[in-house]
Amino acid sequence: MAQTRLDRERIETLTAALDTAYGPAADSTRVEIVRAPGRVNLIGDHMDYNEGFMLPVAIELDTWIAFRRRQDGRVRVASRHSSETGSFWIDALDSAHDLDSAHDPADVERPSGSWSDYVAGTAWSLREAAIPIRGFDGVVDTTIPIGSGLSASAALELASALALLGGGHILAPPSLAALAQRAERDYVGVDCGIMDQLASAAGREGKALLLDCRSLETRHVTLPFGVQVVVCDTGERPQLRSSAYNRRRAECARAVALLAERMPGLCSLRDLSAASLRRYRAILPENVASRAEHVVTENERVLAAATALEASDLDELSRIFAESHASLRDLYEVSSPALDTMVEIALAIPGVVAARMTGSGFGGCTVNLVLADAVPALRAAVGRDYDRRTGLRGRVYPVAIVDGAGPIATD
Ligand code: GLA
Repeated sequence: MAQTRLDRERIETLTAALDTAYGPAADSTRVEIVRAPGRVNLIGDHMDYNEGFMLPVAIELDTWIAFRRRQDGRVRVASRHSSETGSFWIDALDSAHDLDSAHDPADVERPSGSWSDYVAGTAWSLREAAIPIRGFDGVVDTTIPIGSGLSASAALELASALALLGGGHILAPPSLAALAQRAERDYVGVDCGIMDQLASAAGREGKALLLDCRSLETRHVTLPFGVQVVVCDTGERPQLRSSAYNRRRAECARAVALLAERMPGLCSLRDLSAASLRRYRAILPENVASRAEHVVTENERVLAAATALEASDLDELSRIFAESHASLRDLYEVSSPALDTMVEIALAIPGVVAARMTGSGFGGCTVNLVLADAVPALRAAVGRDYDRRTGLRGRVYPVAIVDGAGPIATD
């Protein structure tokens, strides 16, 4: 990737921050930098844990780690955004689930609730998979707004993995993504799907990624010429997002368990057809049936959206995004008045082709397909109307679509 002036400034700032945090290198150990992008999902939300399809893009908002390798198995990390630092020995890491922490020996390191748990969790996950990794001293910098639902945590995991691997062991993006997901689920304790990590690992400049969350296969999908992806952040950061997310996962699992009594062999909602759902709907509690209906219809919408993107069929994209938003709002019940307002404001602007909430919901961001000329009008409308109508602070990010995680050339 060609370096811009901003990249060069960021390299200099991070190298200086590394010296400030740990002192100048005693020997000639060089500074290395790795980056991992955030992501926004164009369509197909809550499909990963139902083994369905999703269509994310890796975005230019990203996380960098500048680091110097160490000869031992210790990792020290500082952040440009927090005074909290982290330090651990790779061999001493243990997941929260392994032992009773009341009886931990003093030399066992466990999640502490700090941002550095994502770094430690990644080291733990790679070590559990018997992949050779090395210690480092590093400084983290991110442009991903924290808590916005653009996968700052997945980006930190992916960048940490690359720093720990230190250019040694090369892992294919799906394997790297699965190890990063394991860090988040089993070490940090957040029950996420695989989409965030896979998008950050396997992104391709200018392309959307059609993910099959069962096989982890990806296909690159070209976006229509002249269409800009714009993320609108509602500024809403609900505390209860993860418990609501876990409830939705449990409701989907319940749908599978109940339907499997009539459809032996059914193991995920990915395999449920609209006809079978109609046939057996009555055996499901109403809310569980609604969740299943979202999954069945959203899965079809992802494939239809990939086809419409490749055919530059903007009317079809507009219709599919609108149906997806309505399904997440009415059937999956994960939208919010702020998200609905952001979508409504966007769709009133000529040149905004399509808009919907994206990610887990309950606040966070919307994703918009916008004719490049219409981006200033969208920004102005959000500035004028959104804050006044919601009492929140909205933000608009036109985002370039970038390659997945990798090293930054420093010279
Ligand atoms: C969060 C999770 C993802 C995915 C989305 C919803 O971002 O981390 O795995 O389930 O929500 O599409």
